[in-house]
Amino acid sequence: MSQPSFPPAHGRFVTFEGIDGAGKSSHIEALAEWARARGAEVVLTREPGGTPLAERLRELFLHEGMDALTEALLVFAARRDHLSRVIAPALARGALVLCDRFTDATFAYQGAGRGFDLAVLAQLETWVQAGRQPDLTLWFDVHPGEAARRRAAVRSADRLEREDEAFFARVRDGYAQRAHAAPARFARIDAAQTREAVRADAIAALASRPWFADTADGQERPDERA
Ligand code: TMP
Repeated sequence: MSQPSFPPAHGRFVTFEGIDGAGKSSHIEALAEWARARGAEVVLTREPGGTPLAERLRELFLHEGMDALTEALLVFAARRDHLSRVIAPALARGALVLCDRFTDATFAYQGAGRGFDLAVLAQLETWVQAGRQPDLTLWFDVHPGEAARRRAAVRSADRLEREDEAFFARVRDGYAQRAHAAPARFARIDAAQTREAVRADAIAALASRPWFADTADGQERPDERA
């Protein structure tokens, strides 16, 4: 059987990554508002999740005990549904897709964090994504100790968030390796800065991409200003 493919992309695909507690999620909505105010059709979504099926897989993933291969199979199953039903159609009609986590998280958490076979993850990536990759990945980077303090201050921990600091140090290293391997795609944001400075850096990283002008007309609409 030939590899199932996706329709050609006319939009752009931006992903947000970082260890739990880096604070990325609070910036995605602000970035979406900023891009919408400049004329982009923005689709805001997340992984695991983004479709009814993938959201159900997310619940299992976050709360049931399982080994690293099962984790990888679940996130890639969720990803396949999400890509087919939401991401690929949005990119085909020219939208700017902002996705809270994607496959770099699998390499960082299951690969570097759990020590799972990277070659197996790469094979799953090939099958599931059929060549589809983000155009830009904003990596919110912060020391695992600071991330743990932030998590403790705001929420009760899910299964992955209960991992120790050594786990998150490996996950952070995993992101660093992914960024090193794809420097043109990655933008590292220093997430230890103030919220305003992090937001400004994230916006600057998106605005500086030459293709951003194609997904937005660049004209700020005063009544929609973020
Ligand atoms: P979130 O808290 O950013 O919504 O992410 C859910 C958790 O799932 C987070 O701890 C990271 C983890 N995760 C993986 O372990 N592998 C993956 O492929 C993805 C997308 C998330």
